[in-house]
Amino acid sequence: MVSQTLSVGQNPSLKENKPILIVDNVSKRFGSFYALQNIFLTVPEKSIVLLIGPNGSGKTTLINCISGVYKPDGGKILFNEKDITKMQIHDIVRIGLVRSFQVPAPFKKLTVAENLLVCGQNNPGENFLRSLNRRRWRVFERELVERMFKVLRTVGLEDKADTLAGELSGGQLKLLELGRLLMMNPKMMLLDEPIGGVNPVLANKILSHIIDIRNEFGASFMIVEHRLDIVMKYVDYVYVLSKGNLIASGSPTEIVEKKELYDVYLA
Ligand SMILES: Nc1ncnc2c1ncn2[C@@H]1O[C@H](COP(=O)(O)OP(=O)(O)O)[C@@H](O)[C@H]1O
Ligand SMILES: [Mg+2]
Repeated sequence: MVSQTLSVGQNPSLKENKPILIVDNVSKRFGSFYALQNIFLTVPEKSIVLLIGPNGSGKTTLINCISGVYKPDGGKILFNEKDITKMQIHDIVRIGLVRSFQVPAPFKKLTVAENLLVCGQNNPGENFLRSLNRRRWRVFERELVERMFKVLRTVGLEDKADTLAGELSGGQLKLLELGRLLMMNPKMMLLDEPIGGVNPVLANKILSHIIDIRNEFGASFMIVEHRLDIVMKYVDYVYVLSKGNLIASGSPTEIVEKKELYDVYLA
């Protein structure tokens, strides 16, 4: 039973969106050590939620539980109204919940366009019986190519379609990674440090492409990121973890105003 008191953000337009993800009383321990303790949180559809907390607070463990890498020791995870707590990673991907490291490194000797195409999901060629149906193949290929062009535009790589991935800059590779995830038709993307190691100009560019993805594809996001000065203005809602516990949540403005959180970060 999910608590009725769960907040889904202060943004009034978001409150009306139903949750795409519900983390309901999730705990995860390693031996006797609790890396996560009774975590409740929700991500409304088409929202961008930020997960923050000092090193070792459980952020990656939570992303691992949601994406199926770890099975929680207690609690439930619901995605798009489906209980995914015990589902296998590839089944979770198939129903539209993807995370950054699930796309392998790009093929350096393939072009940007080709790299996107190989990430297209549910390839009918993988299924012998379906592959006999040529009409289905043609429809699939046309849809895949249309999607590829839409993805190229959304991540700002339209003029790089024919460039080899091996010739891209570090920032362009990050955009390609977002594009390849997007080819998998996700309803939600989990991103662990999407602007890690990039300069502020590029970081802002990547985050504005994330906004475009939300607006044009209707995807939701849970982002783990340390660089709060840059990321805060792009997100709808923030959850704060400390020592495996959820200690605060609120709109970015509310979080910035909670002075007690600064002690947690300095501790
Ligand atoms: N596989 C594991 N085995 C044992 N302890 C782990 C494992 N993964 C994470 N931990 C511990 O759980 C805590 C939370 O880790 P983590 O989720 O990686 O934190 P964060 O991503 O917030 O830095 C840390 O104390 C870490 O040492
Ligand atoms: Mg981590």
